[in-house]
Amino acid sequence: MSNTLQENQDYKKYMVDSKLQYYKPHATKIEKTFSQEISASLNCKSKFISPKFFYDKKGSELFEKICTLPEYYPTRTEVSILEKLPVELLPFLDDSTRLVELGSGASVKTRLILDIFTKLQEKTEYFPIDISEILTESSELLLSNYNQLHITGIIDTYEGGLEFLKNYDDKKNLILFLGSSFGNFSPHDGYAFLQKIHSTMKSGDLFLIGLDLVKDKQILENAYNDSQGVTAEFNLNVLSRINDELDADFDLKNFEHHSVYHEEKQRIEMYLKSLVNQSVIISKSNLKLNLDKDELIHTEYSHKYNLSQIHTLLDSVGFSIENSWLDDKKLFSLTLVSKN
Ligand code: AVI
Repeated sequence: MSNTLQENQDYKKYMVDSKLQYYKPHATKIEKTFSQEISASLNCKSKFISPKFFYDKKGSELFEKICTLPEYYPTRTEVSILEKLPVELLPFLDDSTRLVELGSGASVKTRLILDIFTKLQEKTEYFPIDISEILTESSELLLSNYNQLHITGIIDTYEGGLEFLKNYDDKKNLILFLGSSFGNFSPHDGYAFLQKIHSTMKSGDLFLIGLDLVKDKQILENAYNDSQGVTAEFNLNVLSRINDELDADFDLKNFEHHSVYHEEKQRIEMYLKSLVNQSVIISKSNLKLNLDKDELIHTEYSHKYNLSQIHTLLDSVGFSIENSWLDDKKLFSLTLVSKN
């Protein structure tokens, strides 16, 4: 382990055994609290709730369920691209390349990449970065399946985790950001996030990003308005979370999931629609919220791209495109870039 890391005062280290360790920031490093953010975002003219708050335990389980729905094509399509990748990815890797993942995975996708690494390497290092402690469960699951795996989990925001990685050592990294999670950023925040990744990378490091492509409006709207109502449940669950954690009295029956594709902006826009005139108390945020009938609370954008936009965007940040892969129906893309 590098000296730099042992001197890192911002993180507390938890050593589980010789193959598993975690780093967690000291409490003082945590930025705004849930309560402060909710109070600010629901107290303005165009009300919104950040999509990062979807992912409590229930929300994460519902998202896993969404990924298996017949209408939600992104997950299985990205998996189908990854399945064909091994030969083409191999020339970019060597026996000490480390795998870093933004968002922790024990899922099929992470395993497909780990399969490539573990065939090539005697010891494979995997650094999942995730704000959720769920990282600990998924890491243990992976270790039970991959003998030569060594995991260092970073339980922090993506930005915090990237900063941690930047100061870690000189090893070559392949950074993964899959699932089109990038599409949930606003264009402004997304650009800043790519700059952060670029500034974290050393020359020789690689970044693999999965992005959803522009397609027929109906396919997109079906994917975000599934027939079993799981996406609706996922969207409404954020109100249950606020009820439980911030002592609020949202009545879920008074809200409806609303999701539309905005063609010009190339994004799915997801909202919670108030079905009546109502007031809601959020005690821990010190807020009385008044909502009109049909008023919308914005909860998520999911941006879609075309290939030339992806290349222009990555190029403008300073990345060099190494390769990109699509599925046969051109629904989803994976792009591999290096640092100029
Ligand atoms: C996590 N993210 C990429 C998903 C998406 O497709 O934008 C979240 C999601 N929201 C509704 N369904 C899935």
